[in-house]
Amino acid sequence: MSPDQNLDKVLIIDFGSQFTQLIARRVRELGVFSEIVSHKKIKLKDINNSIKGIVLSGGPLNVYQINKYSFDKKILQFDVPVLGICFGHQILSKLNGGKVKQSKHREFGLANVYKKINSPLTTNFFGNKKSKQVWMSHADQVTKLPKNFKVLASSTNSKFAIVENKTKKYYGVQFHPEVTHTDNGKKLISNFIFSICKIKRNWTSKDQKKQLIKDLRQQIGNNKVICALSGGVDSSVVAQLLNKAIGKKLYCVFVNTGFLRKNEEVQVIQTFKRRLKINLIYVNAEKEFFKKLKNVSDPEKKRKIIGNLFIKIFEQYSKKIKNVKFLAQGTLYPDLIESKSVTGSQTSKIKSHHNVGGLPKKMNLKLVEPLKFLFKDEVRKLGLELNLNKEIISRHPFPGPGLAIRMPGIINNEKIKILKEADYYFIQALKNHGLYHKIWQAYAALLPVKTVGVMGDNRTYEYICLLRAITSEDGMTADYYEFKKSFMQSISNKIVNSIRGINRVVYDVTSKPPSTIELE
Ligand code: XMP
Repeated sequence: MSPDQNLDKVLIIDFGSQFTQLIARRVRELGVFSEIVSHKKIKLKDINNSIKGIVLSGGPLNVYQINKYSFDKKILQFDVPVLGICFGHQILSKLNGGKVKQSKHREFGLANVYKKINSPLTTNFFGNKKSKQVWMSHADQVTKLPKNFKVLASSTNSKFAIVENKTKKYYGVQFHPEVTHTDNGKKLISNFIFSICKIKRNWTSKDQKKQLIKDLRQQIGNNKVICALSGGVDSSVVAQLLNKAIGKKLYCVFVNTGFLRKNEEVQVIQTFKRRLKINLIYVNAEKEFFKKLKNVSDPEKKRKIIGNLFIKIFEQYSKKIKNVKFLAQGTLYPDLIESKSVTGSQTSKIKSHHNVGGLPKKMNLKLVEPLKFLFKDEVRKLGLELNLNKEIISRHPFPGPGLAIRMPGIINNEKIKILKEADYYFIQALKNHGLYHKIWQAYAALLPVKTVGVMGDNRTYEYICLLRAITSEDGMTADYYEFKKSFMQSISNKIVNSIRGINRVVYDVTSKPPSTIELE
């Protein structure tokens, strides 16, 4: 279940809140391992001595919808401190004999909570003030506290905003300390972990590196591992981890589809083969991909053709290497959480196309997923710890099908050449203006439309280049980045003046949803 069964941890029981991942992140930011598990999946037998604290998350249910079939309340009788957040606070009260009132009206947004008495949970939370601004998002609320519970703070609408049962070490907060809108919320979480649960810090990048390398050696033994390297952050970190763990038993396959960014293959070979001395198999399959995609314009067909060909190449090389037993993948914790395997929730459709589907089953390889308990920012820190350079670690995400899904319509050599140049100028400009790291992802696309322009005294009839730059937390939702007019003017001039084939530049100002980040 966890990277190491003996690693002390905070267990977060998820009742479906959109902020559950944030709770896990806050705990880990404080240097303590945390793990999320669905209320439907957690069983009494899963509770062991490595669990030093339990957090009950918020969620859209009401306490009367939770019964013994969907959550085993005996879990709370295990002798560890419990912090209930929002719905978690209500269920904690209800299960201990308190009352929760169902309400049709939501209290949503900022509120003030007023301190009543001191407690280890609220030490230094209020500072020298009597009240604190917090973020609420609830309809129901606790109306009667269970026996032996005390009120630590109240708000105008929530009498029991922060509560405590000191003997049992049960704590409940009606608001969300994990969101940044709650002023000093992290202090509450920190007090819970360190003063109440008394956990020691065990989750630094250094610890993770050592632990992961040890686990990989144990899991892989003397066998061979194949790893699909894309040059992106996740696969690069997986490759370098395995390189440290098993050295030459690792074979990385890097496929040049022809739809990579300008000079990408050169950079990947330079970094992985020359600098990191990783076993790298470079496959130049540009011609094959191009041939298969000839006259294809349907976005889904493009994706499928690219995916299938990629698998075929991968299989060929896995056979050539011989006796490969494992396939390494850069699955991250959010991918796991979004899948049924951890939370029991529906697999997100938005992400289904991102996986290299079919690979493990078809090739009969066992999966190695060393990053499956990490968040993206943790992966980035781990990468630095593994001596990967900053440029790789902080790169914008890039989709597997690459530039092929950034030129709607039919693909041809001329378009690929034009698009590689436009994308290169855009990304360089972002770097030169110090904007690259403020933006989550940016790219240029080539629209299959020609329009009229005038250059010098001549009429032109050329393609439209679309620029997209977005801010995002995780790619699931996104907003467009607001550039200054001067930047937009300079990049538009640069592209139109330098690239033959483009005479118009447009900027995509749609958010996700309703749009997606990529065009296809
Ligand atoms: P969308 O377009 O779905 O993209 O809003 C969300 C994020 O996922 C990336 N993306 C992909 N990544 N293989 C990948 O590895 C893919 O097929 C793929 N399609 C989209 C996209 O670049 C964005 O970061």
